[in-house]
Amino acid sequence: MKNNMKSLAKISMALCGFVALSACTHQEQISDGSNADIESRVESLLSKMTLEEKLGQMNQISSFGGSIDEMHDLIAKGEIGSILNEVDAKRINQIQKIAVEESRLGIPILMSRDVIHGFKTIFPIPIGQAATFDTAVVYSGARVAAIEATSTGIRWTFSPMVDIARDPRWGRLAESYGEDPYLTSVMGAATVKGYQTDNLSDPTAMAACAKHFVGYGAAEGGRDYNSTYITERQLRNIYLPSFKASSDAGAATFMTSFNDNDGVPSTGNKFVLKDVLRDEWKFDGFVVTDWASASEMINHGFCADSYDAAVKSVKAGVDMEMVSYTFVKQLPEAIKRGDVSMNDIDNAVRNILRIKFRLGLFDNPYTNESLAEKALYADQHLQMAKETATEAAILLKNNGILPLNDKVKSVAIVGPMANAQHDQMGTWVFDGEKEHTVTPLTAIKELVGNKVNIIYEPGLTYSRDNNKAGIIKAVNAARKADVVLAFVGEESILSGEAHCLANIDLQGAQKELIDALSKVGKPLVTVIISGRPLTIADEVQKSAAVLFNFHPGTMGGPAIADLLWGNAVPSGKLPMTFPKYVGQIPIYYAHNNTGRPVEGNEVLIDDIPLEAGQTSLGCRSFYLDAGWEPLFPFGYGLSYTTFEYSDITLSSNSLTTNETLKVSFKLKNTGSVEGTEVAQLYVRDKVGSVTRPIKELKRFARVTLKPDETKDVEFELPISDLAFWNIDMQYVVEPGDFDLWVAGDSQSGKPLSFSVK
Ligand code: BGC
Repeated sequence: MKNNMKSLAKISMALCGFVALSACTHQEQISDGSNADIESRVESLLSKMTLEEKLGQMNQISSFGGSIDEMHDLIAKGEIGSILNEVDAKRINQIQKIAVEESRLGIPILMSRDVIHGFKTIFPIPIGQAATFDTAVVYSGARVAAIEATSTGIRWTFSPMVDIARDPRWGRLAESYGEDPYLTSVMGAATVKGYQTDNLSDPTAMAACAKHFVGYGAAEGGRDYNSTYITERQLRNIYLPSFKASSDAGAATFMTSFNDNDGVPSTGNKFVLKDVLRDEWKFDGFVVTDWASASEMINHGFCADSYDAAVKSVKAGVDMEMVSYTFVKQLPEAIKRGDVSMNDIDNAVRNILRIKFRLGLFDNPYTNESLAEKALYADQHLQMAKETATEAAILLKNNGILPLNDKVKSVAIVGPMANAQHDQMGTWVFDGEKEHTVTPLTAIKELVGNKVNIIYEPGLTYSRDNNKAGIIKAVNAARKADVVLAFVGEESILSGEAHCLANIDLQGAQKELIDALSKVGKPLVTVIISGRPLTIADEVQKSAAVLFNFHPGTMGGPAIADLLWGNAVPSGKLPMTFPKYVGQIPIYYAHNNTGRPVEGNEVLIDDIPLEAGQTSLGCRSFYLDAGWEPLFPFGYGLSYTTFEYSDITLSSNSLTTNETLKVSFKLKNTGSVEGTEVAQLYVRDKVGSVTRPIKELKRFARVTLKPDETKDVEFELPISDLAFWNIDMQYVVEPGDFDLWVAGDSQSGKPLSFSVK
């Protein structure tokens, strides 16, 4: 990993060199890059701009590679500030040349694209990256994405998505870092840094966009775009922290979300866009709407027409409008009528120009057209993608069959995801090409093809395939093999934006396929490749081992092959709770306790006596049919080795709010292979002025241990990190008693106690 990061740094430097040489003609003075210098350049430019030019900066269009001639006049008049969906360096330079050389003020255009988990080299989908619990690989993945995308001239991506996702029906959880505010915060911040570096003007830096601000993941029923009803306290305790972390990490831009929360669409929500983002967090980048989310406020019934939409967006604090043109069309009239002030417009334009200056666009508007050839699919990039996919895989069950050893002389490879080049890339892949994707089938052949007889019989051609005719062939293949490897899951189209599901079982005839294979009597290893947690209790029970992969990207195949044959050891952990049944949703580990938590001895449906008395079951908070536990808890994941936690010690049992608690423990590898454990620290605030979650993740660490090796590990937890928004809506640490766990998942371990004075 370290070597890869070094080589990434080298690539960055090499690419910078190229770009510096390609410096171009432009009308602005070379900047010294300081904030004061940038502010004065912003003011000087602003003072020369006409209203049309200002509104032009606030206007983003999507070209999708359409005719440049058609855009020419608008660009030359300075009426476009940003273009979405251009990916070719030559075209991008041509467009930029019109802006820089033909427009009156020569303001460069900000080229943007959804580079969500890689540009050409596709990394695991973000929920998979979260499963690594490794901020360093997530940083490197974002760096690779930025190096590749900027090589074509793209300088702004709409990522990271730091929405909290607690509903596996919601297709966009694939783009998220899961259910936990802390994990999402640190992963989002690492992604921002990876895209932007510490110097936005580095030509390989790409402006990040923290989205979707805010609450989008709480869509009712897990149905995309749906309304949310998040109270201010929940917003502040659960949904805002990851955005604050992105802002603190320097995210250059924010995107508003599609949802209305408590009746107010985010694009018209002054409370979040101004009071929180600007006044409390001091964010000085710019805010873009989501795709047409300004004009969609008409559909919401929040705006009467596009005039109203433009006014409400700008008054709420939006700076740039994505594709719905209400700003350019309606704001001149709104200014005339006094519904929007010139000051509102100037502030928005300042925010946009500030980021363009920080990106160094005025000094270096063009990209070197020869960069892409070296950058795209570079060997180091593919290697990083493989390492990330390896760390992202989660071993859910293993009766000892994995890793496969030399005794396995033949394997049957079955299932629709074994050789799905397109689908293993996952959602939001606009630029990755399936021809570059290495599938498990190809990788396994390459890894062991000369020693192991591989019988490939997919059984079903795609994940929704209901044609059962092939299942018998798969079963026959299984009969001939020592071990069955069944690759099932979801095509990429089943998750992502607008792709929600009310049933998250395996689709098509995949359940029948697994059932039939399980009856053959050969060890069944089920490898799942999916965009979301699935309800797979049956399949887990029928399999000897289950290796779960969120869509793993270009190099998913080699990562999975290495894991199956023990060249790599699983270390991923679940960033989301897996329900047993869809009816348990929402189900997440950091829930409140209720007044009637389960006691653990509750009677479930099959054991209820006939005509049982109304209150005889104890009146506790659980489902009669599903009980109270998930299928797998947050933070869960097995290894090929085992770990033992001991001597968990607190530096003090009684601390003040400005002290730091040190939690030390011994972690031992008690198995026979080297492995990496993600040690997790959870805390419970036992009594609050408002009720508190039963556990909250506060720290984690990846610890690699040789067989029998023990390491001393220490977490530092400033007591200030226990603050939350309390009954008075103040962010404070409330004195009192706390429980603390150090364990390998959110359900294990025994609590220790400490108190805060
Ligand atoms: C999505 C955003 C995305 C934008 C631009 C919208 O539909 O919600 O996440 O960045 O499109 O493509």
